[in-house]
Amino acid sequence: MPTRTTVRMTVFSMLLAAGMGVATATSPAPANAQQMANAQQTAAEPDPAGERLFRACKSCHEVGANAKHKVGPHLDGVIGRIAGSLEDFRYSKAMRAAGEGGLAWSEENLHAYLAKPRDFIPGNRMSYRGMASAEDRTTLITWLANVSAAAPAENPVSEQTSAIPGFSEALLEVEGDPEYGEYLAGECVTCHQPTGHVEGIPSIVGLPRDYFIRSLFEYKNNIRSNEVMKLRVGNLSNEEIAALAAYFGSLEPQ
Ligand code: HEC
Ligand code: HEC
Repeated sequence: MPTRTTVRMTVFSMLLAAGMGVATATSPAPANAQQMANAQQTAAEPDPAGERLFRACKSCHEVGANAKHKVGPHLDGVIGRIAGSLEDFRYSKAMRAAGEGGLAWSEENLHAYLAKPRDFIPGNRMSYRGMASAEDRTTLITWLANVSAAAPAENPVSEQTSAIPGFSEALLEVEGDPEYGEYLAGECVTCHQPTGHVEGIPSIVGLPRDYFIRSLFEYKNNIRSNEVMKLRVGNLSNEEIAALAAYFGSLEPQ
């Protein structure tokens, strides 16, 4: 549910941004093209080009109001954050060590990291090849700095559990059998890469356990609408969901 809300809000803000553009264009005729361009520039809030570039990150990261951890940590307040420092996210040893060694996410450091994540922090487990164009990185980082500064930096994850109608905390208590999960996962890995790579389909390796369980519950109960996933999880019992969570939780992204 929070994911869908975020998506809706994003679409909404895009519409809003578009609407604002139209309003500017149709308000009392500007004297010349230059004035009109200026007016539009001041009206434009976060750069939509930045938001488009963020699609490369979106399958793993959330940013903005109520952002939660997914495969990667939420990115609220990321500019200035000490690397690997959010307490409830399971970072790699390499990322934690980088932060302990004094690395913080300044815009410069983000530039270098996003160009080639593997080279900048060897051994970190962000399964992302890198963004080659320096211009694109600047656009993305500027957008990210705006959006992430506007959102609360603290992590609201644990408070959201009860927000899903019909969701019982008991489901999170079920102990899953990872071996049974591995057996069941045969049905999932045709689409979701066990390496954690994103191939048009979101990675589910490294998702926080609570998020994993809740999202399957949401497909099962029509809170999330993706037909493919609804079909896959419609018949899963609570034990089976817990087993799948245990199995995927035991994998390391490659
Ligand atoms: C396939 C999933 C995936 C994709 C795609 C991805 N990331 Fe990540 N990201 C991660 C994971 C996992 C980590 C934690 C790495 C670790 O602990 O070694 C991470 C860590 C980070 C961090 C460090 C955060 C911290 O708290 O120290 C930043 C910043 C970041 N990613 C930004 C981005 C941006 C921007 C993009 C898009 C250009 C992106 N990531 C794409 C999975 C991903
Ligand atoms: C035919 C391809 C396919 C198969 C098989 C499949 N999935 Fe998915 N899965 C998807 C797609 C596509 C999405 C994104 C749907 C959406 O946007 O809601 C998704 C989303 C998910 C998510 C939510 C990810 C997120 O970031 O919110 C989880 C968890 C998940 N799948 C688990 C599983 C499990 C467990 C299985 C096996 C029982 C499975 N999937 C089988 C295609 C598949």
